[in-house]
Amino acid sequence: MAVLLEKKRNKKIESLLDRGFKLDILDIIRGRRSIRKYKTDSVPKDLIEKILEAGRWAPSAGNVQPWEFIVINDRKILDLVRKFSPGFFGDAPLAILICSNKERARKFRGSLGRDLAIIDCAMAAQNILLTAYALGLGSCPIKSFSQIAIREILEIPDHLEPELLIAIGYPDQKPPPPPKRPLSEMVHLNKYGVKWKNMSEQIEGEK
Ligand SMILES: Cc1cc2nc3c(=O)[nH]c(=O)nc-3n(C[C@H](O)[C@H](O)[C@H](O)COP(=O)(O)O)c2cc1C
Repeated sequence: MAVLLEKKRNKKIESLLDRGFKLDILDIIRGRRSIRKYKTDSVPKDLIEKILEAGRWAPSAGNVQPWEFIVINDRKILDLVRKFSPGFFGDAPLAILICSNKERARKFRGSLGRDLAIIDCAMAAQNILLTAYALGLGSCPIKSFSQIAIREILEIPDHLEPELLIAIGYPDQKPPPPPKRPLSEMVHLNKYGVKWKNMSEQIEGEK
C-alpha cells in the first residue's frame, strides 16, 4: 500500500516536471538559514512526518540507508540534551538526532562503511533542513554535543553513532545570509586552476 502511494506521488511530480513546472529548489537552498532563536509553538506531527520522509528519501551509497532518526519532542529530554550540547542555541521544541547504523554500514559495505555512512547521514540532514524551511520552519544542524551524554540520555545502543543533531521549530529571527565564497574562487573547468567564466548564477545568488 505504502509503495503504491509513493509511486503515485512520484508520478504526480514527474507529470508536473513534464508539463514545464519548475520547482524553486534554488530559492529554498539559498533562503534556508541556521536558526538559533525559536518561538514556543510546537511542531505539528504531520510536519514532523514530512521532514522525516524527506530524510528517508535521501540518496545513499548502494542504497544502504544506514541512518536512524531519533525524534526528541519531550520537553524534559530536550532540556537534558540541550544541557549537554554547547552548540545548541535557542529553545527549539523539537530536535532530530541522525545516527549512523554502524552494523548496517559494515554488513553491506565492509571497511568503506564508516565513511560512506557519514556522507549518507549528511545527505539525509540536508533533506531535513531544506524540507523544514520549505514548510515554514527554522532549523539548525548541531555537531557540538557530548557523545557520551547524548548516548546515555537517549539510550543509544553501541552499534549506532550519533552524527548530527538538528534543532527544529518556528523561527523567531531572520538572520542575514552568511558570507559565501564566490563561485569564481571554487569552480574549475576541466582542470584545477582553470577558471569558469560565466558567473551569472553567482551574481544572482548575491542579490
Ligand atoms: C556539520 C555542521 C555542524 C554544525 N554545528 C553547529 C553547532 O554545533 N552549532 C551551531 O549553532 N551551528 C552549527 N552549524 C551551523 C553552521 O554554523 C551554519 O550552517 C553556517 O554558519 C552557515 O550558516 P547558514 O546555515 O545559515 O547558511 C553546523 C553546520 C554543519 C553543516
